[in-house]
Amino acid sequence: MTNVLDMLASHAYDFARSHSYIALDVPSLERAKSLVELFGKAVDGYKVGLELFHAAGMDVVEWLVRSGKRVFLDVKLHDIPNTVAGALRVLRDSGIDMVNVHALGGAKMLEAARNALEGSAHRPQLIAVTVLTSLGDDALHQMQLPPSSALVPQLAQLAYQCGLDGVVASALDIEAIYTHVPAPFVTVVPGTRPAGADVHDQVRTRTPGQAIASGATHLVIGRAVTQAASPLAALKSIWDEMERAQMHRVDTERSHTSHE
Ligand code: C5P
Repeated sequence: MTNVLDMLASHAYDFARSHSYIALDVPSLERAKSLVELFGKAVDGYKVGLELFHAAGMDVVEWLVRSGKRVFLDVKLHDIPNTVAGALRVLRDSGIDMVNVHALGGAKMLEAARNALEGSAHRPQLIAVTVLTSLGDDALHQMQLPPSSALVPQLAQLAYQCGLDGVVASALDIEAIYTHVPAPFVTVVPGTRPAGADVHDQVRTRTPGQAIASGATHLVIGRAVTQAASPLAALKSIWDEMERAQMHRVDTERSHTSHE
């Protein structure tokens, strides 16, 4: 009988695999390695965030790249243009696939970030965090910022105009983003949860299927899998949702084209 790991590594999950990053939100290289070993050849994309990057730095990035994994370095840079550009010049040839900055750093910072990656032999995609998925409209109002329905599309447009490859946003914002910015523009959605699952500190959340249905290009999958009693079973059910939603999306696009 085929086990779950073999099933997840099969072509049946090619779409979900190539459009997911598993968030390695753990405090050491050893813990990261044991998660990566657990998922084996089923998972080829990992997100290294602030916790692991501060614990293990470039060692973990180099190890993942050497192991043939796609790496999204989620360092959310937010500083003056010169400093952000300097950090990206250091990171740009490390073999990472994706790196991010905060859109609220403003146009000059976004342009400096984009320019800093020029000339790299393996230029990572540069994406901008719009509004954190943990911030609801009440929290934005407290900071005198507009609601996310207005702020996110505005920040996505700014990122697009500054030459970035995409944004990080909630699944709730994806349709609005694509009314302002044309595809191909990457939309990475963190903080999704299967129906009924614990949302932890996330506020603006949707299910993985809803995220793909709304047009998201990539999902970041974190605690719903890494803290599950059975991470492989949890991943399978999320990837099943993603595959079903993608099939439905392709069928819908086909039927629209055939009616034109
Ligand atoms: O565990 P969970 O699925 O909530 O993890 C979401 C991951 O995505 C975390 O690593 C978090 O740092 C990241 N993230 C986020 N919201 C953003 C950008 C990144 O939750 N706007």
